[in-house]
Amino acid sequence: MAGDVDQGEAREGETRAGAPRRDRPPPARNQRFWTALAAVCVVPALAFGVKYYQDGQLLRRHEQSIKTLGPEGLFLFSSLDTDHDFYLSPEEFRPIAEKLTGITSPGEFEEDETQDPNGERLILEARMQPLQMDTMTKSKDGFLGVTHSSLSGLRSWKAPAVPSSTFSASQFRVFLPPKNKHEVGDTWWVIPSELNIFTGYLPNNRYNPPTPKGKEVFIHSLLSMFHPRPFVKSRFAPQGAVACIRASNDFYYDIVFRVHAEFQLNEVPDFPFWFTPGQFTGNIVISKDASHVRHFHLYVPNDRSLNVDMEWLYGGSESSNMEVDIGFLPQLELHSTSPSTPLFIQDEEGNIIQSQGEGIEPIQFVFEDIHWTSEINKREAQHHLEVTFYPFKKVPYLPFSEAFERAQAEDKLVHSIVLWGSGRTLRETVLESSPILALLNQSFISSWSLVKELETMQADEQNLVLGQKAQLHLEKYNFPVEMIVALPNGTIVHHINANYFLDQTAMKPEEEGATFSFSGGFEDPSTSTYIAFLKEALQKAKEFMQQ
Ligand SMILES: *[C@@H]1O[C@H](CO)[C@@H](O)[C@H](O)[C@H]1NC(C)=O
Ligand SMILES: *[C@@H]1O[C@H](CO)[C@@H](O)[C@H](O)[C@H]1NC(C)=O
Repeated sequence: MAGDVDQGEAREGETRAGAPRRDRPPPARNQRFWTALAAVCVVPALAFGVKYYQDGQLLRRHEQSIKTLGPEGLFLFSSLDTDHDFYLSPEEFRPIAEKLTGITSPGEFEEDETQDPNGERLILEARMQPLQMDTMTKSKDGFLGVTHSSLSGLRSWKAPAVPSSTFSASQFRVFLPPKNKHEVGDTWWVIPSELNIFTGYLPNNRYNPPTPKGKEVFIHSLLSMFHPRPFVKSRFAPQGAVACIRASNDFYYDIVFRVHAEFQLNEVPDFPFWFTPGQFTGNIVISKDASHVRHFHLYVPNDRSLNVDMEWLYGGSESSNMEVDIGFLPQLELHSTSPSTPLFIQDEEGNIIQSQGEGIEPIQFVFEDIHWTSEINKREAQHHLEVTFYPFKKVPYLPFSEAFERAQAEDKLVHSIVLWGSGRTLRETVLESSPILALLNQSFISSWSLVKELETMQADEQNLVLGQKAQLHLEKYNFPVEMIVALPNGTIVHHINANYFLDQTAMKPEEEGATFSFSGGFEDPSTSTYIAFLKEALQKAKEFMQQ
């Protein structure tokens, strides 16, 4: 059901808003997993000792805070304490100060240097039809057990925060391609995703977005027209913004883009309510020097029956008290009312006259037609965006049983990922690196499964053959993620646990430089370690066959 949410079809077998994420693993082990991750990304050699000391100190502060504030109070405190040091800096206190005084501080937003007082202006209008509450699963029982305050932010969001806003054409230059991209079909990250295997995902207990930086500033101001609290970077992958040149000629580009952002609808004292549209997409027709914007459109696609994920907390604990639901948002879009026009123009005698404003007869501008010299269609451009967000899609991940059938038919091994909950982090980093993709494509049929799914197969008396394969997998499984390579008949030839894998890549920081020079440009030690794992599996499979 949640699979209907329009995320592209990136979630084969995984429900974005579905059950798995609620089945949080035991906290202690979870801790270890993420602690290991954190350690890897800091300078690895020093990190372990320092981290150990800090963990102890933080643990003591945590205990003290619980005593002072209680769990609910601590929750609110943590939502402000963005660096998790258990102290509030003035910057972290700012949202509260603004709320209490009603005065918005000048803000930290980077000065927009692209504002040109003489440049052209563009008006964007926002349109919205609120979420249809009866499309939410929880509406079927009349939101039984859902407190009124949980949904208050959702129920009260009926219209765009800013129905109309004027921008300078040059601000839209954030959508222009970088220097090395100018061909139709070229794709790039406007806002790179910062989620990776080291950072995991961003926390739920936040009310106010972090200060946007660089190109995020403009995207943030666009999304702020819908709602005052957009998070330009979503908590979970996919995250960020990608763009692709759909068409071009000497002067113009038509650029198609896709953004994964979300909104925080609730405010203190209600618990957070996350509103995550399947995606924002749209296009911009802009001159290559960003002096003129012919057309701009940004919208949440509404061609699926469900297009929004929602998650809300109903208690002061980050992990356990989480509700999820999905729903249909008929309309959320921004579009330009007309092409951008200059504020001032010169008449025949060289006098400067204002072109628009109160009490002024608006000047009619005539715009030449744009003829593209090179173009691809919109679907093709959107496919480019999709593969950029989900590079692992270059290698298909099949359902468990299908993977074994294909492996049998093609005489390959099954490369299988077994996870407790969602495996986004692993899939979206290690597994998308190109040498791994090539090796997987050549010698393996890939699959990934949830522990729950395998347990169901194991218990299925109608299909004992598949059940046995599932059982062999489960015997080797350890929390949180096990990577398994199997013969087509189900025999496991090799497996590696994610924790062990991460420890391994963390233990040999001194080899990091060596990895770069010797193994032909593999990006990081985890890639080379994973390659080694797959190659060992191939070797072991050979030995099996020779027995
Ligand atoms: C996988 O292999 C096939 C056939 O060898 C090739 O056509 C395809 O481009 C490869 N895909 C990737 C992602 O390497
Ligand atoms: C699968 O095949 C291998 C190699 O032929 C054999 O050693 C193994 O016992 C088989 N496993 C099962 C479960 O039949």
